[in-house]
Amino acid sequence: MLYRLALKQLPGSVLLEIGSYLGSSSCFLAAAASEIRGGTKVHCVDTWKNEGMTEGQRDTWSEFQTNTLRYLTIIVPHRGHSVKIAGNFNEKIDLLFIDGDHSYDGCRIDVENWLPHLKPGGLVIMHDYEWALGVQKVVHEFIAPRAITVGTLPNLYWAWIK
Ligand SMILES: C[S@@+](CC[C@H](N)C(=O)[O-])C[C@H]1O[C@@H](n2cnc3c(N)ncnc32)[C@H](O)[C@@H]1O
Repeated sequence: MLYRLALKQLPGSVLLEIGSYLGSSSCFLAAAASEIRGGTKVHCVDTWKNEGMTEGQRDTWSEFQTNTLRYLTIIVPHRGHSVKIAGNFNEKIDLLFIDGDHSYDGCRIDVENWLPHLKPGGLVIMHDYEWALGVQKVVHEFIAPRAITVGTLPNLYWAWIK
């Protein structure tokens, strides 16, 4: 679905993912970006230190690099804490995919810091919406009230927002 939603973007769009981990979802976004063409980029934000994951901290940077090698010209990695990256990010985003910190506070901080970078009418996609209660609460409080059109699948929520 992520790939299909990304395919709806126009050539030259800016796609951004928070929480890229080993690069699986990044590859879906990048595959769509390569079809859209026009210089469409996928910005990937992560500490690549396995932040907040149940298996504990480890460095996942080299695995991410290996797994996304074929999309080297499309993916732009930003290594660091998502809030810090947001403070230095100067482009307007067409598609924002959030799959980073799943706690209520962590997810809320991401939404508060990244939604202002989204273009009006832009698309926000939230992963693990079904099982992560923090993500669900953030969606209800901060995204749903601004949603123009909403879609859901088990574990995925997306909305074009005002
Ligand atoms: C669930 S994994 C992402 C899975 C990935 N989207 C996929 O589908 O393959 C969460 C990732 O978010 C990163 N992360 C969590 N909190 C973060 C934060 N505040 N800033 C940057 N990265 C963060 C972790 O390091 C981890 O790699």
